[in-house]
Amino acid sequence: MRNKIALYGAGNVGATTGHWLADKEIGDIVMFDIFGQTAAGKALDLYEAGPAIGFDSRITGSSDVGIIEGADVVVVTAGVPRKKDPVTGKFPSRDELVKINQDVMSQVSENIKKHAPDSIVIIVTNPLDAMCHVVKHVTGFPRERVIGQAGALDTARYKTFIALELGVSVEDVHGIVLGGHGDTMVPLPRHTSVAGIPVTELISQEKLDAIIDRTAKGGGEIVGLLGYSGYYAPAAGTAIMVESILKDKKRVIPSAVYTQGEYGYQDLFIGLPVVLGRKGVERILDMDLNEKERAMLDHSAEAVRSVVAVLGYD
Ligand code: APR
Repeated sequence: MRNKIALYGAGNVGATTGHWLADKEIGDIVMFDIFGQTAAGKALDLYEAGPAIGFDSRITGSSDVGIIEGADVVVVTAGVPRKKDPVTGKFPSRDELVKINQDVMSQVSENIKKHAPDSIVIIVTNPLDAMCHVVKHVTGFPRERVIGQAGALDTARYKTFIALELGVSVEDVHGIVLGGHGDTMVPLPRHTSVAGIPVTELISQEKLDAIIDRTAKGGGEIVGLLGYSGYYAPAAGTAIMVESILKDKKRVIPSAVYTQGEYGYQDLFIGLPVVLGRKGVERILDMDLNEKERAMLDHSAEAVRSVVAVLGYD
């Protein structure tokens, strides 16, 4: 039987995730969105691209949530993204969106529980780490099946800037970004290499610091240019997670995961290196962090905790 991938939210990130996934031919795709016929329209448009590109993924969309019935993987992008307030002209921070999106996410979680009770849920909606808590809390799914997309995107941005600085292929850049999905994220240059060569031997500390800073502010940089959140890279990061799960590739992709003692954290979603396979989060890899890295991760965990506190769960 073919895999079924449900895109819960067919806005910019949801539909673009469908775009990347269709080409991978790893399952049939269904899109759901509450906004009019958006999901049906985008799904049909994308499906009609199949003959030109040569993919056989079936893509359908609806404003009836029943379309997600029995999905193997549900990608959640439903929510209100960061955008300029038309009155004040200011952008809300990720964290200010927490209350609005908590309501959305609670409803989303109820629907997933009802229609796709065995699914693996990948959350993309911001503020990411807090939204993972809502889904876990409301669905009651085991932690293996509630995963936040954060590190896949943050790591992709980090690698892009390193490849750009050195003028080398992005394929040869390996690295990892841990922590919460926000300004306190933790890119790890000591664990970054270019074809096996430590990046610290290739790029000066000053330039690396600038790359790390640009990575941490990567979301804001795009918002500043577009006036709304980016979607190509977030969608691509999501698509590789879905692929690793459905193909059981067991790729190591930093993702927001519910900790139960790992790295010293308890009951907190935070970005850590995880093995993604058919069961979802199959393992959390342990890393030997030095004092500075540890302090940065703790600081990031603190920032996540302060947003999670807004949810009002015990
Ligand atoms: N049920 C279903 N769909 C919903 C719901 C809901 N309760 N609430 C909102 N939506 C839909 C909207 O109709 C919209 O089509 O979610 C979609 C969100 O799409 P966009 O506004 O285009 O936002 P997008 O750029 O895709 O970002 C979505 O991902 O990266 C994050 O920060 C980003 O939280 C944001 C999310």
